[in-house]
Amino acid sequence: MEISREEAKKRIEWLRKEIWRHNYLYYVLNKPEISDEEYDKLMDELRKLEEKFPEFITPDSPTQRVGAPPAKEFKAVKHVKPMLSLDTARDEEEIRAFDRRIKKELGVDEVEYVAEPKLDGLSVELIYEDGKYVRGSTRGDGIEGEDVTENIRTIRAVPLVLRDDEIPYPKKLAVRGEVIMHIKDFEEFNRELIQKGEEPLANPRNAAAGSLRRLDPRETAQRPLDIFFYEIMHYEANGIKIESQWDALQTLKKWGLKINPYVKLCKNIDDAIKYHDEMEKIREDLEYEIDGVVIKVNKFEYQEALGVKTRSPRWAIAYKFPPRKEETQILDIMVQVGRTGILTPVALLKPVDVKGVTVSRATLHNEDYIKEKDIRIGDWVRIARAGDVIPEVIEVIKEKRTGNEKEFSMPKECPVCGSHVVREGAYYRCTGGLSCPAQLKRSIAHFASKNAMDIEGLGGKTVDLLVEKGLIKRISDIYRLTKRDLMRIPRFAEKSAKNLIEAIEKSKNRGLARLIFALGIPNVGEHTARLLAEKFKSIDKLMKATEAELLAIKEIGPETASSIVNFFNEERNRKEIEELKKLGIKMEYEEEEGKLKGKVFVFTGSLKDFSREEAKEIVEKLGGIVSNSVSKNVDYVVVGEKPGSKYEKAKELGLKIINEEEFKKLVGIEKEEEEKKDRGRIVTLDEFFK
Ligand code: IVH
Repeated sequence: MEISREEAKKRIEWLRKEIWRHNYLYYVLNKPEISDEEYDKLMDELRKLEEKFPEFITPDSPTQRVGAPPAKEFKAVKHVKPMLSLDTARDEEEIRAFDRRIKKELGVDEVEYVAEPKLDGLSVELIYEDGKYVRGSTRGDGIEGEDVTENIRTIRAVPLVLRDDEIPYPKKLAVRGEVIMHIKDFEEFNRELIQKGEEPLANPRNAAAGSLRRLDPRETAQRPLDIFFYEIMHYEANGIKIESQWDALQTLKKWGLKINPYVKLCKNIDDAIKYHDEMEKIREDLEYEIDGVVIKVNKFEYQEALGVKTRSPRWAIAYKFPPRKEETQILDIMVQVGRTGILTPVALLKPVDVKGVTVSRATLHNEDYIKEKDIRIGDWVRIARAGDVIPEVIEVIKEKRTGNEKEFSMPKECPVCGSHVVREGAYYRCTGGLSCPAQLKRSIAHFASKNAMDIEGLGGKTVDLLVEKGLIKRISDIYRLTKRDLMRIPRFAEKSAKNLIEAIEKSKNRGLARLIFALGIPNVGEHTARLLAEKFKSIDKLMKATEAELLAIKEIGPETASSIVNFFNEERNRKEIEELKKLGIKMEYEEEEGKLKGKVFVFTGSLKDFSREEAKEIVEKLGGIVSNSVSKNVDYVVVGEKPGSKYEKAKELGLKIINEEEFKKLVGIEKEEEEKKDRGRIVTLDEFFK
């Protein structure tokens, strides 16, 4: 049956309203009235009608979640007000102190709190104008974030249109919420990654963050993300007044913005502490990760009186759960040899799932740690993921001992090269130096790494192969590699071999600071390397430096000074440096290297050729500093496309303003650097232990 234009318009409008209503019932009230099939039918009908009458398509139509073309990069956008973070407390005493302080400051006997789950995702700001979703951004540095409007649009729990049947929505509304990935979706996602031969991600938060930051919204749409809202950041009061966090949550819900079902209004701090303990118990049963609870003073009047510090409010606190522990058994203990020869004992575990990540190894740090906790091979232990990814043995479950457990002691010889091992403080060190293949591999990989000589294509696995095939026996061998050598390695073909040889050639001119860092002198990080380069200007002078001369540099302490002197006293190291010099590696300091020393940069607007992170890295490499706010101490304001208010302020202050091209000239960017580089990646367990 043919449908008239007029009828189609009406039907489309009805369908949209009906779909919005079902979204609300499903996502916000958690009380669906129709089955998924029935819902899909409505969507199908709408899609077909819109196909036939495309003139009726509107951006807020439920069919329009994915439509935007891939972005080239994310624009920077300023939040309506700073997105603050939270102070944290780890035990009841700290929470009680928080409560005491608040009561004292307010001069009252009891304070009402709202307690909410602390969702382990990433926080975002969403803006609605006239009830329509218009912008979404990541938190970024709290002041400015990345514009991910189109990606957030793909999240089904995000209403594209607000409801106003109970409370009228304001003309402009900014809300904050947390984007999360459910644990089962995360596991599924990781299985897919593994199948594709890619590295699995460490946790659902990283997966959510990665998914939200896809340049192509279609990719975001394929990853099941969810959201909970918890803050009204700004609203234009059209006759409504919201007076407390509890009010705010209820209002969000009425507008169709999903709040977490576990939020609770607490009479006093005892209530809130009880809430924390209860949430900790049900934590494992939730479909998503929470890492604590957030306790917020309820009344806005009180919140205002208490105020905010630079980065966090005085009226809220995160009460974190203790790290998650899982039980498993130590099958064996092995010893790994690091770049500087330090031996680290590692427990090989019966694989155990710690919230979505299979853990089969855990660090035991050093011998003292093993002794102190009385850890034995065969023991049942509790492990936790410290700082997210690196698992660690927390305690031994002594009740499970059978008597067959074996004590472990550190080897007297290096397990890799057999060299003599010496004790230094809490650590043992292999004396084999670069004749130890383990140390050699790691030293080469460090030498070639991005912040050192930046040899693209000379990463962990390639280095391992080159060392194993005997093609690299010391650092200088990198520069003796030929295309023919590389072609003997299974990883390489004509083109990749040529590329690596070129990358090696390029690395000869990275400058003195990077070279010093690349040498891997114990205690000499990037910063110290730069100081040394600036002071001594050439490797020859640095080699002759005495401890006293080194100590004269303000930031260098006795330990670092002596390790530098020891390093250059080693005949082997001096010879290597001579070799590198003969092979054409630049060893003189060029003023270029520190030319931005102490200079302060501010970026505003988006740059064509770099992300903010990349630009920051470049400035810091040259000794400069990147700041987020404009003040008279700023030396350069780099203005990209669509600059924010910082640009205006910079003009007001009469600061030096430059564009992207001028910035490139200033930093002397080579073509090569402009090519998009491998962005920071999450380190997986296996990489960590490598
Ligand atoms: S309130 C001033 N509430 O925890 C308001 N934060 O550092 C500050 N988070 O970055 C945030 N669940 O990403 C708040 N119910 C909740 C939260 C929550 C998770 C995150 C948020 C923030 C971090 C705290």
